[in-house]
Amino acid sequence: MSLRLEGKNALVTGGASGIGRASAIRFAEEGANVAVADRQAAQAEATAAAVRKLGRKAVAIQVDVSDPAQVNAMVARTVAELGRLDILLAAAGVSHARYGEGEVVHKLLHEIPFEEWRRLMAINLDGCFLCCQAAAKQMIAQGDGGKIIAIASGAAKVPIKGSGEYAVSKAGVWMLMKNMALELGRFNINCNAIGPGVIDTPMTKDLRESANFGRMIGHAPLRRIGKPVDVANAALFLASEEGGYFTGSILHPDGGLIMQ
Ligand SMILES: NC(=O)c1ccc[n+]([C@@H]2O[C@H](COP(=O)([O-])OP(=O)(O)OC[C@H]3O[C@@H](n4cnc5c(N)ncnc54)[C@H](O)[C@@H]3O)[C@@H](O)[C@H]2O)c1
Repeated sequence: MSLRLEGKNALVTGGASGIGRASAIRFAEEGANVAVADRQAAQAEATAAAVRKLGRKAVAIQVDVSDPAQVNAMVARTVAELGRLDILLAAAGVSHARYGEGEVVHKLLHEIPFEEWRRLMAINLDGCFLCCQAAAKQMIAQGDGGKIIAIASGAAKVPIKGSGEYAVSKAGVWMLMKNMALELGRFNINCNAIGPGVIDTPMTKDLRESANFGRMIGHAPLRRIGKPVDVANAALFLASEEGGYFTGSILHPDGGLIMQ
């Protein structure tokens, strides 16, 4: 049986950790070469090494996705190293509570300082937009389509008290995919979002260690936290020809937590 991404080149942002790392490896298992982009250079290189171990080409690229010049350079380097770009998975992001960064602070929207709002929007929404825009330009120039996938969240549909800026950013990511789907369909570029539930990654470390975590997971019909590969498998589906008739959609690997 042929591999599902044989001969394809993928760019994965947030590829140093969690969902991005699992997706880079899953894509490589199915035949793709991968550019692993992240602001964490050493960890991105570790993911690239895991991809090479699977017999594929890989390049690690240090990037801050909120910087337009760095994002354009990231796409140019991907094309220079791998030859072309077929798939973008935009997974780089930060959470409202800065999980994994030693600080868990929930603020209501009427209290949050503008700088904190901007910091999150600059990465989660502006950064996703910049990556998708740069990838789309490259795919249009190549002339034979492509796949753009952005990691949103269940929070794209469900407001979260104390985490409003995160939910707003992720609703924006999903609308970005819907609007790009509308505009890029004529170039045979599929644009879709993924809205995970709670996934076992460094981002959710503090949440997993918090008192109400068990109750929260207990609400999900499958009653377990998601694994990064649960999300990677959804990304693989959307990146492969099997997902070829999906565009402007959002898939929810969430154990039934959202159900919307
Ligand atoms: N873990 C969950 O429960 C969950 C649920 C829903 C959505 N998500 C989303 O999934 C995506 C991946 O998160 P994760 O859980 O794997 O977290 P993670 O912290 O393990 O990975 C996020 C990666 O993004 C990178 N990153 C952050 N800001 C960046 C920037 N400005 N430029 C480049 N790279 C940057 C980080 O260095 C990190 O490697 C995020 O967009 C997150 O919002 C996660």
